[in-house]
Amino acid sequence: MLRTHTCGELNLTNTGIEVTLCGWVQRSRDMGGLTFIDLRDRYGITQLVFNMQGNAVLCEEARGLGREFVIAAYGKVAERSNKNPKMPTGDIEILVDRIEILNSSKIPPFTIEDNTDGGEELRMKYRYLDLRRNIIRKNLELRHKLAIETRNYLNLQGFIEIETPVMIKSTPEGARDFVVPSRMNQGQFYALPQSPQTFKQLLMVAGFDRYFQLVKCFRDEDLRADRQPEFTQIDCEMSFVTQEDILDTFEGLTRQLFKSVLGVETGVFPRMTYDDAMKNYGSDKPDIRFGMTFTDITDLSKGKGLRVFDNAEIIVCITAKGCSEYSRKQLDELTDWVKRPQIGASGLIYVKYGNDGIIKSSIDKFFTPDDLSAILNRSDAEPGDLILILAGKKTATQKALGELRQEMGNRLNLRRPGEFKPLWVTGFPLLEWDEETKRFYAMHHPFTSPVPGDIPLLDTDPGKVRANAYDLVINGVEIGGGSIRIHNKDLQKKMFTVLGFSDELAQEQFGFLMNAFEFGAPPHGGIAFGFDRLCTIFGGGDSIRDFIAFPKNNSGRDVMIDTPARISEEQLKELGIKLV
Ligand code: AMO
Repeated sequence: MLRTHTCGELNLTNTGIEVTLCGWVQRSRDMGGLTFIDLRDRYGITQLVFNMQGNAVLCEEARGLGREFVIAAYGKVAERSNKNPKMPTGDIEILVDRIEILNSSKIPPFTIEDNTDGGEELRMKYRYLDLRRNIIRKNLELRHKLAIETRNYLNLQGFIEIETPVMIKSTPEGARDFVVPSRMNQGQFYALPQSPQTFKQLLMVAGFDRYFQLVKCFRDEDLRADRQPEFTQIDCEMSFVTQEDILDTFEGLTRQLFKSVLGVETGVFPRMTYDDAMKNYGSDKPDIRFGMTFTDITDLSKGKGLRVFDNAEIIVCITAKGCSEYSRKQLDELTDWVKRPQIGASGLIYVKYGNDGIIKSSIDKFFTPDDLSAILNRSDAEPGDLILILAGKKTATQKALGELRQEMGNRLNLRRPGEFKPLWVTGFPLLEWDEETKRFYAMHHPFTSPVPGDIPLLDTDPGKVRANAYDLVINGVEIGGGSIRIHNKDLQKKMFTVLGFSDELAQEQFGFLMNAFEFGAPPHGGIAFGFDRLCTIFGGGDSIRDFIAFPKNNSGRDVMIDTPARISEEQLKELGIKLV
């Protein structure tokens, strides 16, 4: 080793020993007769001291070192007169008697500090410099810890990690596939897996019983703060289990991760049905760190002559505690907020319950004081509260009010960082009707089994069939999802028919799975956690990009290596591809 110690480990017990440290020059300060250099590596920062009187040539050499030069420093550990209690190495410094420049550095395009002056695009272009920053390095260390703990836990539970292929077959469900052209089979393409779903099921048919994999998945979909085109799942499958067994196992994993990585006890996770989540929170992934649940006031609000209410399928409200003093301007701004296309409400109605007990609303013309009191009563409002009401079509209104609830949660600081509230959401519908294409889509995926008692409804009222599926939600983020699977060929075939597949297409796309079901497929089920999202929640971050070493930007580009990129005419020709 070029070094005897790291820059993060020396303290007073090492005083007097000769050491060699290697690292990057974080900053240097010239104090007349003395020059100080902060030397940084992955483990920390150690102060180097150069004394003009002791060795003027060396001191000059130190003054010539630029930011991010890589050096080896040879010297003796000494107690500092001016200690820095904020640094683990803050009690000591190194009296340097020789340095070696291992490599010079251009001036970095942004400062390597927690609060850097570099914008996102620049930091992504020089991601290797960004990764030198404490903040990002700590995120990747956290990611490593979570990966190790996950592997340990699942290993102890008898799971084995098996790799599944990355070059597979395109399937017409879910998001768009990324595809890879085949040179040897011109005109044909592999697809990158959106998840190893069918392979893990085949591993159950093969008798592996408990499988897991930390695995890259690829989805060509619109990107957001919690979505990347390539991301990692903790992917799992188990045989001979019920939904309860899976929830137990993965609640156990999540609890263990919180305990060992963050030292947080999360207790037993509450459960909520999909219907209740939509009814009370307007979301299938509610943030239950705060209440502000919905109150349905449809019956109290119709027939008062207000058209938006009279024409509405549903009229629902939330109670914003202590907001009765909101100004006209604040309410107008909230109204604009809910009218944005992303939220899609046609307007916002309010009732203020003043601290003095006086009730004021935007519907005073239509509602008597008694009518308004009835709304306040049902909403459990107290003086000082503000009721925010949306009306319209059921699902759209619930979703819009769900967004407004989150927004009010943010504005009122109710979504406290450092507080973790996991939740299981169960009882999802099996299918979702799409008005545009006039067909059903699988809400989870087409391999999810219906609740056994609902199977006859597949023929009569498919929209009513409930799925044997579940999601793990933490602080309003969907961390994972899974289901008990179909393991019977006929039921799987029926499911494809309900989804609008012809027998031929189902056979062509998924014949390998249905055939496998004819060779003793055990009952099985599983789940996959979004690993990047899990890391982001644990690290208290806003974007999964900060927890991925080399992420893509919102246009799906890696600006550092500059890809996607063109390929040569020759490569295209070899692949038999003509660009139009
Ligand atoms: P699902 O599609 O719900 O289920 O994905 C599981 C989890 O993966 C995460 N996730 C993503 N994370 C980052 N970027 C993305 N683009 C992205 N897409 C999904 C989410 C999500 O909850 N095979 C099934 C699992 C199963 O049934 O066992 C599946 O992939 O956190």
